[in-house]
Amino acid sequence: MKRVEAFFGYVIALAFVATAIVAAVVVATLFIKGPARQLPPETIAVVSEPQPEQEVAEAHAASEDRAGAREPVDDAGIDVAAGERAWGQCRACHAIAPDGRSGIGPNLWGIVGAQVAAIEGFNYSDALRAADGQVWDVALLDAFLTRPAEAIPGNRMTYNGMRDAAARRNLIAWMAQRSDTPQSPEDLGLAAAANIVTTEDTPSETAGVDAFSEEEYEALLEAFRWMNPPARPAAEAVEARARADAITAALATMDYEAARFHPLHYPAESLTASNEECLACHAEILSHRPRAASLAGVPDTASIAWYQTLDTYAGAQESFHHRHMLSDFAQATMNLQCRFCHQGTDPREESPDMIVGRENHTAPEVPEFTLRKVVNPSTTCLMCHGAFPAEEMGLVGSWHEIREDFEWEPGINGCLTCHEDAFRTNRHHVTFLNAGNIEALGRAGSSDSCYGCHGGRAWYMIPYPYARNPWPGMDDEVPDWAIGRPTASDPDYAFTPVNPAD
Ligand code: HEC
Ligand code: HEC
Ligand code: HEC
Ligand code: HEC
Ligand code: HEC
Ligand code: HEC
Repeated sequence: MKRVEAFFGYVIALAFVATAIVAAVVVATLFIKGPARQLPPETIAVVSEPQPEQEVAEAHAASEDRAGAREPVDDAGIDVAAGERAWGQCRACHAIAPDGRSGIGPNLWGIVGAQVAAIEGFNYSDALRAADGQVWDVALLDAFLTRPAEAIPGNRMTYNGMRDAAARRNLIAWMAQRSDTPQSPEDLGLAAAANIVTTEDTPSETAGVDAFSEEEYEALLEAFRWMNPPARPAAEAVEARARADAITAALATMDYEAARFHPLHYPAESLTASNEECLACHAEILSHRPRAASLAGVPDTASIAWYQTLDTYAGAQESFHHRHMLSDFAQATMNLQCRFCHQGTDPREESPDMIVGRENHTAPEVPEFTLRKVVNPSTTCLMCHGAFPAEEMGLVGSWHEIREDFEWEPGINGCLTCHEDAFRTNRHHVTFLNAGNIEALGRAGSSDSCYGCHGGRAWYMIPYPYARNPWPGMDDEVPDWAIGRPTASDPDYAFTPVNPAD
């Protein structure tokens, strides 16, 4: 009888779990909205107010008065230092140096006043080549930087545009000085000299990457290491094993209900439970296998889902728990505990069971209660299954369309083209991820290893609002999209990497 009950309990739990998860996912998808981030990039491009990420560029004005900064006054002074910071949005793709080296985009040394598409050897798009009779004067640059895709349709610069007019002027003024024949803002007719703040006057205010010399910055990066989280202390492992053994021993006499309502399912115990303890009763969770064939006879090998085509996907079809805890990729990159997803609910929120077919879903004489599904998708799944955050990156299009721009030869991970040094040097230092292994995999080649957790297996139309951990030389201006974001990972999981060289 116990066994039968257990079996039904199990089936009910499963059915309820499935329903609740679907409901939760639907609800989460409907309600967890990041600020204006649900619009696809094409839609964004026609929104007329200044775009959030562009506010990084705004320097002083932005910190003084955010609202005011949205309406730049025409005769406002030119702030060349702010222009240099705005360059932070271009540097991932462009160099602006006299050595003539081009990156993803052409070298822009001396671009102000130069002919369009004039860098020899650079593989321009037909659209840009067709415009090569024109000159990059202030007006053309301004129009191009506002909305690259509209100013020169069909060009290949996958950059969303800088909507703030003052930021563009500052940037153009700065670029005009990066030239064999530098031009001042007055030469360009940009502003009255009295208002000019030059880079030289305010070197220390420039907290951005450009505040460092190349050597200083290299040294910073050299000193920085991605670390896997510290191993669990041996003593803790021994204790967990002992508690798990105690549970196993108690099972011989434990009543099913006592097991089902075991305190480990609820806070506070659920928040500190070890995998060993959960597995003392739920060992089957790691050995479940999906069917070898569907009921209609389709073999599992013939029903590969789109997310199973990523470079990192290996082996046969496996269960959900296997893919998060046991697959090679999971073991390399993640360190998930049962309690990370199953945080436990308040037992007072248990709901009367709803057995399909039972009249009006009412409980029988002796009410049975189902354990509520205790996985919160918006704080767990969304982290690794959210949409690709293209907008925050100033990129246009899906990664499938634009990755070639960043992976111009085999073996390059296009995410690291930008994220190797320019952005977010500090990331993944949380106990549920293996930051060191993630970087090693990323460096070994395919951007699928990064993309997989950041859009490649997206169940959601919205990206996860990650904590914005600072990186060496990060600009101290906060872009609009990041206002209100935490500046450090959740303290329950965060750890500080210790560089063995120190
Ligand atoms: C995602 C990469 C990327 C980013 C970010 C980017 N660009 Fe570009 N840029 C390109 C590419 C690629 C081209 C060549 C486009 C073509 O051939 O259609 C280009 C072309 C240009 C050109 C024309 C150069 C010429 O020789 O005619 C200018 C000017 C320019 N970019 C300025 C900027 C500025 C200023 C920024 C920052 C606000 C920026 N770009 C950000 C990739 C980028
Ligand atoms: C003493 C044995 C025991 C321990 C320890 C235990 N469970 Fe359970 N758990 C059960 C029983 C019995 C059920 C009822 C369902 C069933 O029979 O499968 C259950 C149900 C569940 C369910 C499904 C029901 C639901 O919707 O909530 C989850 C999820 C779960 N446990 C997770 C955990 C986690 C995570 C841990 C460790 C923190 C844990 N359990 C520890 C015995 C245990
Ligand atoms: C990545 C998040 C995640 C992790 C980590 C995780 N689970 Fe789950 N678990 C879920 C989700 C989501 C479901 C419901 C989906 C389903 O029905 O398979 C579930 C379902 C369950 C169930 C009930 C349904 C079933 O398939 O039997 C049990 C029991 C369970 N988990 C136990 C565990 C234990 C024990 C661990 C640690 C060894 C663990 N889980 C780790 C997310 C997770
Ligand atoms: C910390 C990151 C992380 C979290 C949190 C996470 N996943 Fe995943 N998920 C992954 C990775 C990585 C894979 C691919 C594993 C592999 O290829 O072996 C994956 C694979 C999957 C798959 C595909 C399984 C298959 O057979 O191909 C599904 C479905 C899935 N996750 C759903 C979820 C749900 C639902 C949640 C929340 C309960 C969740 N994930 C939480 C990282 C995560
Ligand atoms: C053109 C350069 C560029 C490329 C290529 C790029 N990123 Fe980014 N990414 C950025 C910038 C800029 C930011 C915003 C940094 C900031 O200000 O916090 C960012 C932010 C992010 C964030 C944090 C988003 C948030 O909302 O907190 C994630 C995650 C991310 N990138 C992942 C990736 C992955 C994965 C790839 C490859 C598939 C990739 N990036 C490719 C420039 C790039
Ligand atoms: C196993 C899944 C997984 C993989 C693989 C992964 N990430 Fe992440 N990434 C995450 C999660 C989860 C977070 C949020 C961590 C936290 O809580 O701070 C994150 C955060 C980030 C952030 C922004 C948050 C910050 O700390 O500032 C960036 C940028 C980022 N990842 C880029 C990358 C790049 C580049 C790669 C490839 C080298 C990569 N990720 C691979 C799961 C992953």
